[in-house]
Amino acid sequence: MHNKILLTGINGQVGHALKLKFLQDEVIALSREQLDLSKVHDIRRIVREVKPDLIINPAAYTAVDKAETESELAFAINATAAQVLAEEADRLNAGLIHFSTDYVYDGTKKEAYIESDEVNPVSVYGRSKLAGEDAIRALCLPHLILRTSWVYGAYGKNFFKTILRLASERDSLRIVVDQFGAPTSSECIADAVAQLVDRWQPNQENQTGIFHLTNAGSTSWHGFSCEIINAYNCLHEDRKWPELKVNFENIAAITTADYPTPAARPANSRLDNTKLKNTFNIELPSWQVGLQQVMQTLSL
Ligand SMILES: NC(=O)c1ccc[n+]([C@@H]2O[C@H](COP(=O)([O-])OP(=O)(O)OC[C@H]3O[C@@H](n4cnc5c(N)ncnc54)[C@H](OP(=O)(O)O)[C@@H]3O)[C@@H](O)[C@H]2O)c1
Repeated sequence: MHNKILLTGINGQVGHALKLKFLQDEVIALSREQLDLSKVHDIRRIVREVKPDLIINPAAYTAVDKAETESELAFAINATAAQVLAEEADRLNAGLIHFSTDYVYDGTKKEAYIESDEVNPVSVYGRSKLAGEDAIRALCLPHLILRTSWVYGAYGKNFFKTILRLASERDSLRIVVDQFGAPTSSECIADAVAQLVDRWQPNQENQTGIFHLTNAGSTSWHGFSCEIINAYNCLHEDRKWPELKVNFENIAAITTADYPTPAARPANSRLDNTKLKNTFNIELPSWQVGLQQVMQTLSL
């Protein structure tokens, strides 16, 4: 039972969804302007003022490509700030729920990753998120590190919204077909975290550590794009949304090599969620169901 929650990064996708989810609870919900995680003294001061029972930290440096040239800032927010939040939570005997990423893996495994698999990030962003995980795990406080993937939603900047914009502007798209993962909606993450907060017994040893938390199933970015267009087209007449220019025939499947980016991405981002189910009896719906739910909430 957590009486007072401190929530960071409320203008991000997951932070925003969590803020809405916890409206009824006593939540101190802070934007970057109210709690800048690059300022260690501010983190300590604010956590000590608020005295939460639980800190939930979805704030992060998430600009994967930019991180290649902003390593210091990425590490300050994803690693140092995570460590300081954990130290302050520890000091208050509070719990910490922190978010991490599929990008801690190199993507060379054939099957879906389990939590105990070897990590080997291939980007600065991935290394900075891993450093945050390690810093939290080095302390003995009760914590949940939730590794998720391919986050999107009706709110915020993400692949889903970019595809809808491009599909209304262009006649054709070229989308990567050889990276696989689970598109995971911020709303589904918030639902699962609300259940976790209810069920979490921080003093039980098996309820601390790393958990994978994604929508079920997997696809490629190309497969996800086709399903986004499909889901949009199913609703657009009823909703009087404008017709898209793109249809399935003109979404070209390209390879990662055809679309070079500053940061490398894992080819296999699939995360096995069995540990979450076995420990907390929490299972997220399929990514297709997650997508339909997001599309229902979209307003253009
Ligand atoms: N997005 C993905 O595909 C993805 C995939 C796997 C894991 N994750 C992880 O999931 C978590 C949630 O990601 P998300 O998709 O919700 O990210 P997001 O939409 O990019 O939001 C990140 C939030 O962090 C805030 N932030 C950045 N720098 C900050 C600072 N110095 N101080 C305080 N806040 C700061 C941003 O503030 P502003 O709004 O002011 O910019 C933003 O609100 C993160 O831990 C991320 O690493 C994300």
